Amino acid sequence: MTGPSDVPARTQVAVLGAGPAGLVLAALLARAGVDCVVLESRSRSYVESRVRAGALEPGTVALLRELGAGERLDAAAMVSHQFELRIDGARYVMPVTELSGQPMYVYGQQEVVKDLVALRLSAGGPLLFGAEALGVDGIDGPTPTVRYRQDGVERTLTADVVVGADGFHGVGRRSVPGARTATREYPVAWLGLLVDAPPSGDDVVYAFSRAGLGMHSMRSPSLTRLYLQVPATDTLDAWSDDRIWAQLHTRLAADGWSLTEGPILERAIAPLRAYVSDTMRAGRLFLAGDAAHIVPPTGAKGLNLAVRDVKVLAPALVALLRGDPALADAYTATCLEHVWWAMSFSCGMARLLHASGDPFEDSLRAAELRGLATREPGRRMLAEDYCGVRP
Ligand code: FAD
Ligand code: DHB
Repeated sequence: MTGPSDVPARTQVAVLGAGPAGLVLAALLARAGVDCVVLESRSRSYVESRVRAGALEPGTVALLRELGAGERLDAAAMVSHQFELRIDGARYVMPVTELSGQPMYVYGQQEVVKDLVALRLSAGGPLLFGAEALGVDGIDGPTPTVRYRQDGVERTLTADVVVGADGFHGVGRRSVPGARTATREYPVAWLGLLVDAPPSGDDVVYAFSRAGLGMHSMRSPSLTRLYLQVPATDTLDAWSDDRIWAQLHTRLAADGWSLTEGPILERAIAPLRAYVSDTMRAGRLFLAGDAAHIVPPTGAKGLNLAVRDVKVLAPALVALLRGDPALADAYTATCLEHVWWAMSFSCGMARLLHASGDPFEDSLRAAELRGLATREPGRRMLAEDYCGVRP
């Protein structure tokens, strides 16, 4: 038996991880009248302040609105009708809304998480913070069990189904036996910066330069989000403020555009990685989001893919719990189609936007990018892939 009476020991769906995948899934299941318990290893304040993604596809925004988590988003998100590709200092505007019919939105992942946590707690749904899943047992039987630790006490949670939405480092993906994985490691990482300064323009800018990729994005009218390509082996101590600003100015330099500096509020180096598990289900354990796949951030797809997975998973679990396994059986195959589509876009952009230091290779990259940015089929493809609306 397991702990105090206010901690549930039995539920229909045990969800590991309160990231976008776990929280959107919990909201979809709650709407369908299915009980679930969400276990999150970190504290509420940690997950609500972890700075990560920012670019949301229209489909993601539509679902958040539909779930009742769109109010703050609608007040604060920046609608992004275009983005800019900057190639060796030359500027190419990509009119996303005009070419694809839909805009992108820029709204911090931690704000999405805050909105979803508030939604779940206001509905009274169990969401346990500081509850670290340690392992999943009995996935081939009808009632799998999650072992977890909270406040130093080990407990168990028994469910009809367990969902590993606990990211790349969680226990979910390690609990799927025999999964074959496709992995690509990159020699580069991204140094991500949150800066206390107004954005230097309205657009997200992806800049290819011979010194490496530089990126400009935003979080609010007074907060800028910037990224620099750095060697995968670098640590933060290699990047003084002076070096960061000098590189940002060099890489983002363009006529008619200047970078506004400000105090750096947050900085982190994230490795670039591509990873896909060919199995997103083993018995009664399902994987969703980063637990099942990681895409390089160049396509702004990770959070959006996590949401796509659980949009497929929720109705599949509802049907499975009613005794119809067809959608659950098709879950991996259904998801892998959108996963590999996003992977091809994200890896393609990663290949083109990161400089290698080899002048021949980098001139090829610049030429290929210019071809994409200036010809109608390339521009349309970029716009559609970026905002996730493929015809
Ligand atoms: P996560 O957000 O990682 O959530 C998993 C949760 O599980 C975490 O809260 C974690 O604490 C918890 N957890 C882990 N282990 C356990 C355990 N054992 N027990 C219980 N809980 C556990 N994506 C985009 O779509 N657009 C972008 O613009 C974008 N930019 C990015 C920029 C950067 C620098 C980075 C690093 C990522 C970016 N991404 C972007 C990717 C995006 O952040 C992820 O794909 C997204 O967070 C995936 O959501 P998730 O819910 O699957 O996983
Ligand atoms: C942001 C991050 C990305 O990876 C991207 O491709 C676009 C925008 C951002 O953090 O705003």
